[in-house]
Amino acid sequence: MKDACRISAQALRVAGEAVKPGVSTLEIDTIVRSFIEKQGALPSFLGYGGYPAGTCISVNNVVIHGIPSKEQILKEGDIVSVDVGAYYKGYHGDNAFTFPCGKISAEAQALLNATQESLYEGINQAVAFNRVGDIGSAVQRYVEARSYSVVRDYVGHGVGANLHEDPSVPNFGTPGRGVRLLPGMTIAIEPMVNEGTHHVRVMSDKWTVKTLDGKLSAHFEHTIAITPDGPRIMTLCD
Ligand code: MF3
Ligand code: CO
Repeated sequence: MKDACRISAQALRVAGEAVKPGVSTLEIDTIVRSFIEKQGALPSFLGYGGYPAGTCISVNNVVIHGIPSKEQILKEGDIVSVDVGAYYKGYHGDNAFTFPCGKISAEAQALLNATQESLYEGINQAVAFNRVGDIGSAVQRYVEARSYSVVRDYVGHGVGANLHEDPSVPNFGTPGRGVRLLPGMTIAIEPMVNEGTHHVRVMSDKWTVKTLDGKLSAHFEHTIAITPDGPRIMTLCD
């Protein structure tokens, strides 16, 4: 699983290097997909529930599950969420990062910082014998204290031999509630944070999820292992 997670993290880094004004989201998907395949791995999302690409690329007011397209050309100031997983020797890794495209506004940068920081607040609670509600409430408290909102309709998840496993890992909740975390569990923590309302809608392509109010959204994700010595971030490059 460490190998699958390392390849996922490297793939995400490759994606970030490709984010620039003038590049299409399909070009980024192609670059990432060939990287993953060159490692002897498979893109986890391709064909999952009929999903048509190797990555999800979600720009600005798109929250998650943006389908890469040759028509979608990135421009200066966009925020670009890339979500990618790799399947290697029977296991999945899963991670996401929101990249700035060129120079972005101070407001957009603040949203990125808060979302990434909320992920680490959640990771800090991914401790053996805590509960999933400890993770969710830590993320939610951090986000709402900054007047942003956490998406309710999509959540983090267990990850391992399957991309999505029990338990669900919401980015909201009550301390001390929910499934207990035990050593050996591997989970994906993935806050989706909106500038405005937490409400979202799914487009007619059945995948693309946008904010209801058209405001910005950011998404950061790591695969984490619960160990006797605390949380271990699996999706690191080396
Ligand atoms: N990383 C996403 C998640 O954590 C997976 C995208 S769903 C897919 O749920 F269908 F596109 F694979
Ligand atoms: Co995930």
